[in-house]
Amino acid sequence: MKEWYDAIKEAQSVEKLEEIRISVFGKKGVLAAEFAKMKSAPNDQKAQIAKDLNTHKSSLMNEFTARKITLQTLQLQEAMKAESIDVSLFTSKSQAGALHPVMETMDRIVEYFTAMNFAVKTGNMVEDDFNNFEALNLPKYHPARDMQDTFYFKDEMLLRTHTSPVQIRTMMNTKPPIRMIAPGAVFRRDYDLTHTPMFHQVEGLLVDDEGKVSFANLKYILEDFLKYMFGDIEVRFRPSFFPFTEPSAEVDISCVFCKGEGCRVCSHTGWLEVLGCGIVDPNVFKAVKYKNVSGYAFGLGVERFAMLIHQIGDLRSLFEGDIKLLEQFQ
Ligand code: PHE
Repeated sequence: MKEWYDAIKEAQSVEKLEEIRISVFGKKGVLAAEFAKMKSAPNDQKAQIAKDLNTHKSSLMNEFTARKITLQTLQLQEAMKAESIDVSLFTSKSQAGALHPVMETMDRIVEYFTAMNFAVKTGNMVEDDFNNFEALNLPKYHPARDMQDTFYFKDEMLLRTHTSPVQIRTMMNTKPPIRMIAPGAVFRRDYDLTHTPMFHQVEGLLVDDEGKVSFANLKYILEDFLKYMFGDIEVRFRPSFFPFTEPSAEVDISCVFCKGEGCRVCSHTGWLEVLGCGIVDPNVFKAVKYKNVSGYAFGLGVERFAMLIHQIGDLRSLFEGDIKLLEQFQ
């Protein structure tokens, strides 16, 4: 029997072990033969022989099981080694997609304001005169309409020139308080280095009880936001005019190119204009039938942010689908 114990222990493969199993335990195997021989042994020895044979049978079975597990584990380890991937091997360059710099910038802006609990609202790109102008304190023939070169359709319909109509639509169907931003595409008849007929704005509006919202609140959040977007910069508020806010301001950041020293991009002023904002004009609240409230609003151009963040010189290049340009933003 010893030779069979050795054979099992020394089997080098699962296949070899299987052959041994058949030779030992099979119908025509050694154990079967030994049991057969037993029949011709003297009667008084039969019981002892059977007992011995059964003991061998179970010990051999234990050896067999143990060896089988060892061999299977080895086989698995070898297979895993053979099938593993060599990550250091050279492969051809893959064509991974990436977010367009405008969308990426938009996402970051939205991320900031949603973290500050502003809800995201959308409106219509085709607007009417009331929402885009009239309700924003821009009556017909008001000279300030010239600030925005509008694409008109028939019947006083137009392509929205800013995201401010979303303020109006939101106030018309929601009770105050309001804390919202409206990201989206807007349209103006303009085309040069820094203007395209379609671009993106993010509008912000906060409305609460009368006397609760101050210019200080507006200044705080915009400063914090601009530092989030541009890092270590200076922020200044400059008095300005918008028909829908009073007082109004334009917000500048210290030039991200020359750090305020003065360069071509900032026309040697050291400052870059990035936002319009102000305290909501009472006439706007009147138009949406809000009473005893106060609020602030702001609006910004996403392309301008993207150009400053990524140092892109010509705004038009963002819309030409030039793969060489876009590949730089992966
Ligand atoms: N709607 C203004 C524009 O497009 C931006 C703005 C929004 C200014 C809200 C003040 C308040 O120029």
